[in-house]
Amino acid sequence: MYRSKIAGLGGYVPENVVTNFALEKMMNTSNEWIIERTGIHERRFVTQPCGCAELALPACHDAIRDAGIQKENIDLIIVATITPEHQAPGTSSFLQALLELTLVPTLDIRVQCSGFIYGMSIADQFIKTGHYQNILLVGVEVQSAGLNLTTEGRDIAVLFGDGAGAAIISRSDDDSEIISTHLFADGTHAKDLWVEVPIGYESPRISKEMLDEHRQYPYMNGRQVFKNAVIRFPEVVIAALEANQWAKEDIKLVIPHQANMRITEAITKRLDLPLEKVYSNIHRYGNTTAASIPLAMVDARKEGKFGKGDKLILAAFGSGFTWASAAVIW
Ligand code: COA
Repeated sequence: MYRSKIAGLGGYVPENVVTNFALEKMMNTSNEWIIERTGIHERRFVTQPCGCAELALPACHDAIRDAGIQKENIDLIIVATITPEHQAPGTSSFLQALLELTLVPTLDIRVQCSGFIYGMSIADQFIKTGHYQNILLVGVEVQSAGLNLTTEGRDIAVLFGDGAGAAIISRSDDDSEIISTHLFADGTHAKDLWVEVPIGYESPRISKEMLDEHRQYPYMNGRQVFKNAVIRFPEVVIAALEANQWAKEDIKLVIPHQANMRITEAITKRLDLPLEKVYSNIHRYGNTTAASIPLAMVDARKEGKFGKGDKLILAAFGSGFTWASAAVIW
């Protein structure tokens, strides 16, 4: 049995910064409301039509460089996204073409905010068995193309942003390791945070009535999401600690999916952790769904929040509902 590790990381966000004040001009909201309820000050939106594969490309190149491999060494491409450019094929096919890696297998996964950790778990299994040695794992979202940026959609529109994060998961030959991953889901909540109708796609499955009723925009039962998130996040962090007999004190940093600052604060309190041990960059990018954990890892490492040998817990909760964690030695 082999061991896997995160060998390289990369992140990319569009240059266009959209502040809360800019949103005030599009809908009835306020900078104060958004900061108080979510902790978000600004997010990035693409300015012209741009698919997820295109947005992810710079992040992939950075991750490949950071891992010190050649792109030709990649054995599998996994992409997690809720905003694919087309119904089919998945974003990973378009990304593979842009990377000029013909014949490398591609896999899209659809587990929303937990996508990056589910992807880590899938990559970990392929590496452990010796089947593959280097896997490109990407979390990417172009949320702005599918948001209702009017007062009608304001509860969700203010939360989300565009961005991409990438990791190279490789066979480990040193002390760095993905020690364990823990995956959960509860489909009875599938409609508490969902997009009923695929965006940007016309088919017999989509009626004019559905579009007129705006069922192509995300719907969120915010209270239900909040209530479940503050229970499931701590549970899944504890699952990772207990599985490895790690004490809270052993952990250098918890890197949660950047859902909402109030959720992060609530889980920090429930876990009785100091706030500086739970990383947040949501004020800069908003909620970038599958991209948020790798983007947070890139920023946290740049800020010197963790280094070689440190123990990290990654944790996510989101639509599905799905939730997941990973215990990592950097
Ligand atoms: N700007 C101004 N007002 C807004 C608004 C916005 N962007 N969005 C919603 N409102 C209004 C609502 O219309 C409602 O008004 P009403 O009382 O007149 O009907 C009011 O604000 C609701 O406010 P509040 O009671 O504070 O709502 P809340 O406590 O449920 O908070 C959320 C709303 C969305 C911040 C909260 O439910 C939440 O954090 N949920 C989790 C969301 C999340 O993280 N999702 C991503 C998970 S991956």
